[in-house]
Amino acid sequence: MCGIFGYVGQRADVGSMVMRALSMLEYRGYDSWGVAVGQGERIEVEKEIGKIGGATVTLPPSTLGFGHTRWATHGSVTRENAHPHVGPSGRVAIIHNGIVENFRPLRDELRAEGHVFASETDSEVIAHLVDRAVMADPERPLYAVLASVFVRLRGLNAVIVLDQARGELVAAKSTSPLVIGAGRSGFTIASDMTALAAHAERILFLEDEHVVRLTARGVELYDRRTLRPIPPEFGPLTITEGDIGLNGHPHFMSKEMAEQPVVLDRLLAENGPAIKDMARAIERAYGTFLVGCGTASYAALTGSYLFSRIAARHVNFVVGSEFRYHEHFLTPESLVIALSQSGETADVIDAMLAAKRRGARLGALVNAKRSTLDRMVDHRVHLLAGPEQCVLSTKAYTAKVAALLLTAHALAGTYDEGARLVHLAAEGLRGMLTEPWKARVRDVAATIAPAPDLFVIGRGLAYPTAMEAALKIKEVSYIHAEGFAGGELKHGVIALIQPGTPCVVYAPNDETRDDILSGAMELRSRGGYIIGIGPEDDPAFDTHLPTPDVGNAAPLVSALPAQMLGYEVALLRGNDPDKPRNLAKSVTVK
Ligand code: F6R
Repeated sequence: MCGIFGYVGQRADVGSMVMRALSMLEYRGYDSWGVAVGQGERIEVEKEIGKIGGATVTLPPSTLGFGHTRWATHGSVTRENAHPHVGPSGRVAIIHNGIVENFRPLRDELRAEGHVFASETDSEVIAHLVDRAVMADPERPLYAVLASVFVRLRGLNAVIVLDQARGELVAAKSTSPLVIGAGRSGFTIASDMTALAAHAERILFLEDEHVVRLTARGVELYDRRTLRPIPPEFGPLTITEGDIGLNGHPHFMSKEMAEQPVVLDRLLAENGPAIKDMARAIERAYGTFLVGCGTASYAALTGSYLFSRIAARHVNFVVGSEFRYHEHFLTPESLVIALSQSGETADVIDAMLAAKRRGARLGALVNAKRSTLDRMVDHRVHLLAGPEQCVLSTKAYTAKVAALLLTAHALAGTYDEGARLVHLAAEGLRGMLTEPWKARVRDVAATIAPAPDLFVIGRGLAYPTAMEAALKIKEVSYIHAEGFAGGELKHGVIALIQPGTPCVVYAPNDETRDDILSGAMELRSRGGYIIGIGPEDDPAFDTHLPTPDVGNAAPLVSALPAQMLGYEVALLRGNDPDKPRNLAKSVTVK
């Protein structure tokens, strides 16, 4: 959460460069934004509330600057609370991603010395601490100052400090990611690789133990504890500007939905060995746990059903944020597999650190290579979905479920059958991404767009799909949507059905079909408007969105109708599908 980007080098248009980079990082937060550049002896700052949109800055030319796009944690959405925050002397400014958990005692300490704060944020405390240390000893290297301040901050934080007088940026982090880029015209640092694609040829992921100094001459790394210099080792940047463009699509959401068949093809072509390694790790483990948050948690729950059905193996499932309250039975024989697009979700990282402390082995199904999660695990399957820039997760969800289906088949010794099903699902998705199918979805979207509430039911393998479908619809359309196990209807939920309430019913061709159709009839009898999703139509449905019959790969084709419905309803309601209100991608705070 919160996108951060900094530059130092030869280019003098740093203000507009930072703005372009921030617009690429906006999925990390879009409550407010701000840019600071060095100018003579001063730091010039421009901040605004709201999304960047087409905004431009009127900052003076400079070769040193940084910026921030905020997802508010501490302090409401105001100009004052937007970053960057400048220290009291005006010598340094900071941008920050994370939460300084102990900011209150730190702020009290500073207030007792007469410091006055301009914002309600935890972040401003960092600006004051750094400023105080710089003014106390102006000769002390800024990286040493930041190292001494950073050690006082509790929580998962990433901080960049700009010092105009010395013409440098310094940065440190704890879990929250920072990537450094080296390019022809200078050096960059950002919360995500995507912002570096236009500026860097080589990149370096900052480690928690290090502090970095960027000047127009180069990048210097130091051990954060001993301040000993460390040779920086850059690797190639693997994404290009082409990977992160809209490529003719109106939104990243539509682009990423459309990419799902190719993502499945790529997973099949490149990931067999990693998936078989993961299956062997599960085979050896005494107790396997799947962990994820939000959409990833529904992929994980789907996995738990798939392992049971395909490999007759009990694989536990725990929501990332609940794992810490559930960890007590982990042993060195346990295997904990985290599912994450970003590889940076704070609750997932926290769960994995807890598992590590108990000696468990760690695995990941992760999209972002070299992310914190990717680097901490013993076994990994990369999802190979490419950058996901819409705040809503679509293609990474499908990739996670496909990886789990293949792993379950590998465990059962039937990998080729799993590969056949994933291939069938990819072909099925191609058929659903055509104009006639989209037109059907648009018709349904027009019917449900005015509804205040919507319910989704599924049984068995389709139960987690129902919850994912409800999440996808609610987070982008803002219709109150809830997913339920079909059998739970009569235990309470049915009280909410009124004449005209849209009810999405997942009816795959499996053992759940008869029972779920009975549920559909019960909803219909109370006036529910039934949208059936599955291979075959039924009199219980008011309308039907047909999906291909792909057996146990059904979750791979069942999510798309809900993604498309959410997208179309969002457009009808005038919502931005890529940036739903109050949300941000990469939830790096707890
Ligand atoms: C929903 C969504 C979120 C994420 C969740 C986990 O569309 O995007 O629920 O799935 O925040 O994110 P990752 O997969 O990055 O750990």
